[in-house]
Amino acid sequence: MSKAAGGAAIGLREVYARCRLDMQGRVAVVTGGARGIGRATATLLAAFGARVAVWDLVEDVAARASAMAAEAAGLVSGEAEADTTGGGADARPMREPLRLGAADSTVGGAEARATEVIGMRLDVTDEEAVGAAAEAVATRLGPVDVCVHAAAVGSGHYGFPFWNVPPSAWRRVLDVDVLGAVNVATVLAPAMAERRRGALVFVGSVAGLIGSQTDPPYSAAKAAIRNFAHCMAKDLAPLGVRVNVVCPGMVRTDLNRSVWEAWARRQPEGSAVDYDTWAEQKIRTVVPQGRWQSAADVAAAIAFLCSDAAASITGQTLNVDGGYVMT
Ligand SMILES: NC(=O)c1ccc[n+]([C@@H]2O[C@H](COP(=O)([O-])OP(=O)(O)OC[C@H]3O[C@@H](n4cnc5c(N)ncnc54)[C@H](O)[C@@H]3O)[C@@H](O)[C@H]2O)c1
Repeated sequence: MSKAAGGAAIGLREVYARCRLDMQGRVAVVTGGARGIGRATATLLAAFGARVAVWDLVEDVAARASAMAAEAAGLVSGEAEADTTGGGADARPMREPLRLGAADSTVGGAEARATEVIGMRLDVTDEEAVGAAAEAVATRLGPVDVCVHAAAVGSGHYGFPFWNVPPSAWRRVLDVDVLGAVNVATVLAPAMAERRRGALVFVGSVAGLIGSQTDPPYSAAKAAIRNFAHCMAKDLAPLGVRVNVVCPGMVRTDLNRSVWEAWARRQPEGSAVDYDTWAEQKIRTVVPQGRWQSAADVAAAIAFLCSDAAASITGQTLNVDGGYVMT
């Protein structure tokens, strides 16, 4: 696909340099933060100065968190790798090193600041584990100001029509994508309300806006999470806490690839096109900008909504989808 189509996706270096949001002194939890969009978001928040806890199922979440802290430090100092995309695809590599602006403190002419990301292994469907993790974060990092809920799964089945997805396959999707969000919000929001300060961002999907036939349980779960976000936004607005939703379109991640895998399994032997071809056909058909979004594109929108720059924005949905769904 031509990168000229609809401009170019951006990488974390560009987002960091252009946005420069102030998240100093904030404590953030990012669920599903070990990979993909959550990873990019956690790294960016850490670079902007937040102390970040990543909650994820993966075994090596602690090691991944250390790598993210190092990547965030690289963004701050301007020494990040040139192809830093934050885990997404098709981000435009920077052609030359970025020169950053005013520095907090300087080392060798570049900004230097401690970055902190800790990893905690948990399943967001486990209410007790989520409660224990919240206590541990408060003890280790301080009271939580920001929550980004990115953890999600698909059913692993391909719809078209919906009865290709056995009802039993809905359960895990609804557990993770809906009840996981409920667990996380129920544990973290009350303390934010008590402190009259906080922001929650739930990662939805364009699928939840349009009734996507691709993976109906996923689509329904993403619609539910958006509705729940509206409920929370109304409850929490008078208490100084904001709740918003970001809907990505097409970001090259493991989750996105799993949709192609489910499709490919349904094709006659030897007839399925590869992931890139499948995705590019889809993007060409439904995305006006005609290209992928990067994880960094999505992380930029999430970080903005988490920051004080979005102080009057609550109960909203921001689509980062190249114009796929226009509202
Ligand atoms: N990639 C896309 O094209 C796309 C499009 C629309 C929406 N989204 C949404 O973006 C968010 C991030 O997805 P991604 O594409 O980065 O996927 P991803 O698979 O790369 O990352 C998801 C992360 O969530 C974690 N996770 C899954 N189940 C969990 C559980 N029960 N408890 C804790 N952690 C769990 C995984 O281990 C993984 O690290 C999801 O909410 C997804 O629905 C993605």
